[in-house]
Amino acid sequence: MLPITGYVDRWSVKPGEAIRFMISSRGGVPYHARLARIFCADPNPRGPGYREAAMPCGIDGPHAGIEQPVRPGSRALVPRLDLAGSLSLALTLRPTLLSSPRPQTLLHWQGGRVSLRLWIGQRRLHAELSSPAGALRAETGLILDGGWVDAALVLDDEAGCLRLACRPRPLPYSPAPRLTLAEANGPIPPLGRGRMMLAATLDRTAHFNGRLERPAIHDGALPVEILLDARSGSTRLPGVRALWDFVEGIGTERITDFGPHGFHGELENLPTRAVAGAVWSGRHQRWTDAPEEYASIHFHENDVGDLGWLPSLSLTIPPEWPSGLYALHLETAEGRDNIPFVVRAAEAGAQAPVALLLPTLTYQVYGQYPRQAVTEAAASRARAWGALTETADRHPEYGLSAYNTHADGRGVTITSMRRPMLDKRVNQIHRLDETPEGSGTYWLAADTYLLDWLDRRGIPCEVITDHDVHAEGVGLLRRYTAVLTGQHPEYHTEETRGAIAAFIEGGGRFLYLGGNGFYWKIVPFQGETWAVELRRAEGGIRTWAAEPGEGYHAFDGSYGGLWRRLGKPPQALVGVGFSSQGDYRAEPYRFTDAIQDPRIAFMRQGLEEAAPGISFGERGLMGGGAAGHEIDRADRSLGTPAHALVLAVGLPQHPSFEPANEDRLTQEWPGTREDVVRSDVTFFESAGGGAVFSVGSMSFIGALPIDNYENLLARLMENILRRFADPTPFPWPETASALPEKETLS
Ligand SMILES: [Fe+2]
Repeated sequence: MLPITGYVDRWSVKPGEAIRFMISSRGGVPYHARLARIFCADPNPRGPGYREAAMPCGIDGPHAGIEQPVRPGSRALVPRLDLAGSLSLALTLRPTLLSSPRPQTLLHWQGGRVSLRLWIGQRRLHAELSSPAGALRAETGLILDGGWVDAALVLDDEAGCLRLACRPRPLPYSPAPRLTLAEANGPIPPLGRGRMMLAATLDRTAHFNGRLERPAIHDGALPVEILLDARSGSTRLPGVRALWDFVEGIGTERITDFGPHGFHGELENLPTRAVAGAVWSGRHQRWTDAPEEYASIHFHENDVGDLGWLPSLSLTIPPEWPSGLYALHLETAEGRDNIPFVVRAAEAGAQAPVALLLPTLTYQVYGQYPRQAVTEAAASRARAWGALTETADRHPEYGLSAYNTHADGRGVTITSMRRPMLDKRVNQIHRLDETPEGSGTYWLAADTYLLDWLDRRGIPCEVITDHDVHAEGVGLLRRYTAVLTGQHPEYHTEETRGAIAAFIEGGGRFLYLGGNGFYWKIVPFQGETWAVELRRAEGGIRTWAAEPGEGYHAFDGSYGGLWRRLGKPPQALVGVGFSSQGDYRAEPYRFTDAIQDPRIAFMRQGLEEAAPGISFGERGLMGGGAAGHEIDRADRSLGTPAHALVLAVGLPQHPSFEPANEDRLTQEWPGTREDVVRSDVTFFESAGGGAVFSVGSMSFIGALPIDNYENLLARLMENILRRFADPTPFPWPETASALPEKETLS
């Protein structure tokens, strides 16, 4: 647990509105808070340097602290479950981390001083019924990896006996699995009114990793064979006291009891639903087509949804605060942290015709990303630069990013913003950049180069977030003449992608200033983006892949994966789309002949150097140049408009650059190196008087600050932005030359 940390309840807030900060200080020690407006979040002394302005306000100063609970792990709480007399309990499970040395709870019921627990440990199934009078314990034979298991527990009041049985489902080519049975004799204590947790103990520890399906409780002591046979057959057993069929409520955190008493429950920490169940046949890929084949919930010990911390501080934004990026700095004697957030204009567009759209959905999907790139050398550099040094690697208790896998190898599919995200901070670097001026920034810290640049050039700009666009749609974007993205707007909901498309269509000016953008689809939780779901179905460069039969989101039943595979490639939105990825390195661009096109004369204004064959972006704070790391190309076959101009091309030479998986069908590359490992700086007009400028490189904006923002790339960008912010419609290029098959590099 960090000495001090926290999160906000929203990414953005308007003047007059309140934002709440959920803060936890270790041991409940007092902490100090200080609010600032952020201009440059990069601490690298060889760049513009970390820059902020104090914003004195009512929450500056000392505060009493509280330590707030961190209880990762998904589970299901049934707040009331009354049990009486003899009973028979059965469930189906698929453990996915049997190698764990820790006990993994399947079910824990407590009523008064009587407790019933069912768990796996040491590859065996265990049960314990305890009361002040003593305990009955039983354990069964070995459970093997990789399969489904039916389990039954019978409390026989008359016989004074606890029976525990389990039987794996048959595996291919293996003998029919044997039932193993264990018994413990002794009086069954009276049970009565109680509550139950599935997949963890009631004190929220000893979590289960794996899938649970259709837990059921029947009145009376049924023979265990009948109980187990009924798990995989169609027999309906008598005397149902409770039966939770997880087919109901996929897409919610509700579990429904189909028994007579309605002992419904709530999931905690967003376990994964819409996963293939014990009877998944492979004939269906979409869970809505055969919900009964998706009756499981996959629980993990490190799932994190809403940490549910109490609000510690609340700030109503003063009316005079300009739109921008802000951060609440927190400090105790032991450590420090900061919580960034955006202040929007009270009326969108009133402060500026230009908006920076921060890719907060991508920040969230990447939130808490432990990875090898975060080395001790990077940490010592961060210390030397006075930056934050805490990383997600050292604090997995706040959950993982959707780039990680759980301990059982399954990808993390759901990410929440209701938890600290230690790698989405200001005054932070993200990796060791070994180029001479390199900062090693990513995400938010990188995106502030745009804020710093605009502020220094005196170009007014408001800041908005993906979360705002999701909620408000194209109407929000239309309040601006021009909208800029950050460095990596990779993840989009149907709503955010649709709003951007409608904005461009309707005459908006859009500057896509990143790489690998508009790539994956994500889906919000019940319409709200505090949690989003991602199914990495089929193609795409990815750190894990959706499992068979699990390409459809639980949250809304829609198909997941690449927007390209959903018929909406990034090229069709912004002219360029993902082509290649390599190390965190970048190289220069060269102008093509298209830079001379009269349609883009505005770009060349005052820039004699903007001519075919001339290079720019030779230096940068992100990998040592402007074209690099993850890069995009124009491709008419994928939707780049025929009239798009590719005015500059970057061709990274580093051998680490490889084609995107989705382009690669055989062992061969899908084209020559120059076809594939390229970043195309692209411009096109829309029929509604709008225009799009796309750079197709994650490193591009890292080249802006070079020489105090006085470089060819920065001046070109200023020309473009000033024209894009001018409401004069871009004429439709009647005589537009089509994109040549290959750009000629003079
Ligand atoms: Fe990415």
